[in-house]
Amino acid sequence: MGAGKYLSVFTSATAEQRSANFEDYWTFTQHHGGELFEADKDLAKKRARLKHFQDNPVRLRKPLVDPDAFYRNYVAMQDDPKSLDRMTLMLTCIYKFARHEWVGIKGAWDAVPDMANSHTVEDKISRVHLAEEFCHVRLFDEMLRTCGLDKVEWAPLGPIKEKIYEQFPKLPGFLMDSPAFVTELMGVTFYRHLDALFDDVLADEPEVRVRLKALLDEITIDEVAHVGQRRNFIGPIGMKVSKALVKPFYTMFFNDIPEVAEVFDVNQMIEDGLAFDFNELPESIVERSWIPTYCKVDLDPEDARLSLEK
Ligand SMILES: [Fe+2]
Ligand SMILES: [Fe+2]
Repeated sequence: MGAGKYLSVFTSATAEQRSANFEDYWTFTQHHGGELFEADKDLAKKRARLKHFQDNPVRLRKPLVDPDAFYRNYVAMQDDPKSLDRMTLMLTCIYKFARHEWVGIKGAWDAVPDMANSHTVEDKISRVHLAEEFCHVRLFDEMLRTCGLDKVEWAPLGPIKEKIYEQFPKLPGFLMDSPAFVTELMGVTFYRHLDALFDDVLADEPEVRVRLKALLDEITIDEVAHVGQRRNFIGPIGMKVSKALVKPFYTMFFNDIPEVAEVFDVNQMIEDGLAFDFNELPESIVERSWIPTYCKVDLDPEDARLSLEK
């Protein structure tokens, strides 16, 4: 691990640095996802990756003992979570986290300009970002299928919550940017903890463990880039607000999923969110992802110049 290579994600940046980083991210994201298929809410390289997984399926050595326990509790927990096995709890957590993502992006996709009407680099970035999020839901669905769960439905959250999610992207930037950034940060935190949980719950299922980690890596690589990208929208005051939002946001979100506390350490996730600085991520993720220049310890000459001009 390259401890010390990166600075806290809450490090402040100048307007000039942020502007240069938007350009840099835009270049990165086009290479990373490939062509945008807007009608399908899909991206060429992501589609090919998913197809590779689907064409080479991996299944559990020992099928789920009680798939009905999953289907009974995956939309809303009906049983006492303490009565369920860790595998089922892990799978319902995956579904519930992914479902929130899916509802959020569904609302946002219709609210933000399409590519033809995206005139700023920020708008273009946001459009591709949403397409990536749709790809994540497909990857999550593939995780559940890998565990034999092929009857999963992506259910809406109910009219009131759906409405709230639809309004969110229409809020002005000074209200929306910090929560949007903290949500991405919460994603990366959750995915890293989920990756560790795979080692534990899937100890006797090496093929599925490797496959679920590979599927999760595809998501985490994008999500790490989203953390930097959403951070890039935020000035110094907004960064203070964002840091203050980490604890209440994580607490509220994870308390809403009763089984999370059974298999995850929410306090540790909060600490990891507050301390997030990219250093703890595996190199294999960092090298395929994107990190803002001002979060790197070694300023490149352009950044050094911008800092001096400040
Ligand atoms: Fe995501
Ligand atoms: Fe994201």
